[in-house]
Amino acid sequence: MLPSHVTIVEVGPRDGLQNEKQPVDAAHKIELVHRLQAAGLREIEVTSYVSPKWVPQMADNAQVMAGIRRAPGVRYSVLVPNMKGLEAALAGGAATRPDEVVVFGAASEAFSRRNINCGIDESIERFAPVVAAAHDAGLKVRGAISCALGCPYQGEVGADAVEHVVRLMKGIGVDHVGVADTIGVGTPRKVQAALERALKHYPLAEVSGHFHDTYGQALANIYACLEIGLHHFDTSVAGLGGCPYAKGATGNVATEDVVFMLNGLGVATGIDLDRLVDAGAFISDVLGRPPVSRVGRAVLAKRVPA
Ligand code: HMG
Ligand code: MG
Repeated sequence: MLPSHVTIVEVGPRDGLQNEKQPVDAAHKIELVHRLQAAGLREIEVTSYVSPKWVPQMADNAQVMAGIRRAPGVRYSVLVPNMKGLEAALAGGAATRPDEVVVFGAASEAFSRRNINCGIDESIERFAPVVAAAHDAGLKVRGAISCALGCPYQGEVGADAVEHVVRLMKGIGVDHVGVADTIGVGTPRKVQAALERALKHYPLAEVSGHFHDTYGQALANIYACLEIGLHHFDTSVAGLGGCPYAKGATGNVATEDVVFMLNGLGVATGIDLDRLVDAGAFISDVLGRPPVSRVGRAVLAKRVPA
């Protein structure tokens, strides 16, 4: 039996926009968050506190956080790779404070070095004080595990490597782990095998799937996750996204496509598909291209008067 409800973490403002070459105004990012929360998204990954030299698009992190009109019941999260990032995320007080932070490691040593400039063991050493300080500040901590299904530098990544990082994250007190297919090469049975390793250490409610759709496998992979009871997924409106340190990696699975599939399966999300499509159309207009989401395009096409 499939789960009756799925929680979606909308990562479009962060994962979706971090790789955009053209500048995107903070005002547009803020408007995107407003539209997403109006569509019923209750978890939104807003930005990241990383080096602006590494990821210039996220340099307006504090401005975006300060500009959001907080909606009741919505959890706002941000990425923090180290203490400097956490301190910056907390520096503005209540006006910019996230509800949750995300540390991000990798199941591949090579990717870890490219993405955060240190190996897996050192990344865990950096994360440990971040997790402790975030908990002291009353924040929940998610841990993202990149390249859990394959690595652009190292190739195959086995489930043992995923479980190794899950164990390390558990050891430093990370509350929730996200198993991420950064380059979209996972297929359903391999994805189940990776997720099952995470589920050996975390309960179902504290494990999520994060699937980039580069090879068109993401919906099948989410369905495979539903089959094993998983009910927490990161998705990106309009299918925006990519990782600056994974060449050729395209966007996350589109939120619209996932919501359409879940609606069809009778799995509740609390999300209004029409308003979500509007949010996807809005940001796609800002970027000057059509939404990558197939569902978004289909819904928009039907709205055009005959
Ligand atoms: P580093 O060079 O090793 O850091 O970078 P450092 O501590 O040696 O500091 C070097 C410079 O960076 C210094 O500035 C620091 O102040 C600054 P300088 O003296 O040269 O002017 N610095 C910072 N500035 C702002 N915020 C910070 C910060 N830390 C240091 N937090 C670092 C290490 C992690 C900072 C760097 O590698 C970095 O910023 N990486 C970002 C990578 C990134 O954002 N990748 C994309 C997000 S992950 C992702 O998309 C995957 C995910 O979606 C899941 C999936 O799909 O796989 C989550
Ligand atoms: Mg990602």
